Amino acid sequence: MRAAVFDSGIGGLTVVKSLLAHKLFDEIVYFGDTARVPYGPKDKNTIIRYSLEALEFFKNFEPDILITACNSVSAHAIEELREVASFPVVGVIEPGVLALEKKLRNKKSNILIIGTKATIESQKYQNLLQQRGYTNFTAKATPLFVPLVEEEIFEGEVLKATMHHYFQDFHPEAIILGCTHFPLIAQQISSYFYNKALLIHSGEAIVEHLESTFHIKKSNKTPSLKLFASENPEKLKRVAAQWLSLSQI
Ligand code: SIN
Repeated sequence: MRAAVFDSGIGGLTVVKSLLAHKLFDEIVYFGDTARVPYGPKDKNTIIRYSLEALEFFKNFEPDILITACNSVSAHAIEELREVASFPVVGVIEPGVLALEKKLRNKKSNILIIGTKATIESQKYQNLLQQRGYTNFTAKATPLFVPLVEEEIFEGEVLKATMHHYFQDFHPEAIILGCTHFPLIAQQISSYFYNKALLIHSGEAIVEHLESTFHIKKSNKTPSLKLFASENPEKLKRVAAQWLSLSQI
């Protein structure tokens, strides 16, 4: 089986990492729209237009499934992609909430959702959490983390100051990492909260969802990976080489 993975930039590699680790496909074709990242500050129509353009790109590869790793795309363009695509299109928002529900039974737990402006303003996570009975959640747009990750700033003083800027008033029991870029700084986010908060990561959530909903079985070999970017593909390949082999979530 061939999966197409679409992201606004390099952050979707966090989803690829989980797919590779669980050996879910024979081949993964990744496209990061690095020329136009970030999508988070863009409006719905622009996100839809860029997503439909990416779909055109993927059609040449005849994928069996498209995974929109980008939360901003999952929040704003999933229906439009599904209308046009001749294969299933899976976003990361519902799998993220379902993964949270499996791990956090207490519906009164204090949950923090972080993501881009586009994702938070879409209210998609908030509506789903409400539908699933959660009563104590806050959503916070934390867009500065996206350019930091794209700049390969995964630790250090700038990241610490940014976390303090966003998180100083929060004491969550669980955090939904509602942006593909955030798992790349998950360890730092976890340390900021003294490793006491449960972190929900799109990549792991999507693997559970693919296995349970689409009955996609593990293969016995690691999928082959084709990486494409709309700008600077060398950078994507370099980060992929580092991140996919070295880092642990
Ligand atoms: C962005 O493109 O702004 C971040 C990606 C995401 O929303 O997951």
